[in-house]
Amino acid sequence: MVLEKRHFIPRSYRGDLKKAIRGEGIYIYDQDGKEYIDGCCGALLSSIGHGNKEIADAVYRQMTTLEFAHPSRWNTEASEEAASELASIAPGDLNHVWFGSGGSEAMECAMKLARNYFLERDGAGSAKTVFIARWNSYHGSTLGTMGLAGNMGRRRPYSLLFRECPKIETPYCYRSELRDASEEEQARYYSQLLEREIRRIGKQYVAAFVAEPIVGSSIGACVPPEGYWEMIRDICTRYDVLLIADEIMTGMGRTGKPFCVEHWGVQPDIITSAKALSGGYSPVGAAIASDKIIETILNGSGVFGHGHTYNANPTTAAAVTATIRFMKKNHVFENCAKRGEQFGKLLKEMLDMPFVGDVRGKGLMWGIELVEDKDTRKPFEPARKAAAMVAAECMEQGLVIYPGTGQIDGVEGDQFLIAPPLIISEEQVKEIARRLRAGLEAAAEKLARKQG
Ligand SMILES: Cc1ncc(COP(=O)(O)O)c(C=O)c1O
Repeated sequence: MVLEKRHFIPRSYRGDLKKAIRGEGIYIYDQDGKEYIDGCCGALLSSIGHGNKEIADAVYRQMTTLEFAHPSRWNTEASEEAASELASIAPGDLNHVWFGSGGSEAMECAMKLARNYFLERDGAGSAKTVFIARWNSYHGSTLGTMGLAGNMGRRRPYSLLFRECPKIETPYCYRSELRDASEEEQARYYSQLLEREIRRIGKQYVAAFVAEPIVGSSIGACVPPEGYWEMIRDICTRYDVLLIADEIMTGMGRTGKPFCVEHWGVQPDIITSAKALSGGYSPVGAAIASDKIIETILNGSGVFGHGHTYNANPTTAAAVTATIRFMKKNHVFENCAKRGEQFGKLLKEMLDMPFVGDVRGKGLMWGIELVEDKDTRKPFEPARKAAAMVAAECMEQGLVIYPGTGQIDGVEGDQFLIAPPLIISEEQVKEIARRLRAGLEAAAEKLARKQG
């Protein structure tokens, strides 16, 4: 293959990506002027749609007032304001915000905050350094976060470079032996895996448990059984283990409440947020910590020794403040809950289509699992690239979705996420469902042909 005369390193040199030229509302337009509904908000970030002038104006104003001031030497009004806005929608006493430039940074910060909390509380001899996470989850692509979990296929090449964290199984009940059990039994079984793991390791070594409230890209909007998060919270409290909820996908209203854990009335010790936190208008990540954690640091050394140059930069902060204010003013969380119900009903009707094995989700975060045989739940051969095929057919129909694979064992399994902007209207929901159905039908025809 001849080395291309281009300088930008794409994610893949094999792909044939279209050029995104312009965005407006829920739409993106390519180089030929074709319109696509952004049915997955990029990767669940463009929640208030594209081309929002209010956010652009706020960023412009901040850029022309003060674009940057190094966080080790300055505080800024912009970052104080953004932190207050975020704290105002975070549950309980999650009142303290650290800002970085992405989800992986937010997760790394959460891990260091947890470690610092125990160092400050118990002294330098604290052995609480172990993070327990779950298989089939994603927390970022840095070496620290890949140790927590990650897309099984993608993390494998790097596994010798990071410190592996102990993992328990995620309640992925569509493929669980307990799939016919009650939700309460499922919740009990899967939460007790955490209790067992803490007891095996020894609670004196365990700093925190880390999980996504609804698993995003790794399984495709996998909702836990009712009661699971409450049980997890209880176990963490009993064993003096911090609970870190990775709400990088599920947060900022995606599931119909500002943060997903609120569906179960659970308050974690730290929540991480990113993606939609700035509406997609500036790279951002945040760790939101409880009073207990920050008071302990405050009454100890008073120092949280962790930083990046772009921490809490005023430009991003302006985008965050403007996004949250836009969401509050336009009742975006409420719209998500309402349109989510409508969307869920339309998607569940697709269960009668060939190869649609499972439809799951909450709010405007939905996943569809594709199977070759709906009775036995047999997955497609990975080489058939079923999820990629559905995504390609949806693109033809003018709809962007987020395909994923390998949720069964790192290799087998096809699913996709569909998670449109939260500002979507009733008519637009119907239009997405229409385009999705057409894309699924076209893919099903091809998949059935190859089968026969
Ligand atoms: C649940 C979750 N955590 C963490 C991350 C990492 O965020 P980023 O890609 O901004 O580093 C992602 C990104 O997709 C995510 O979905």
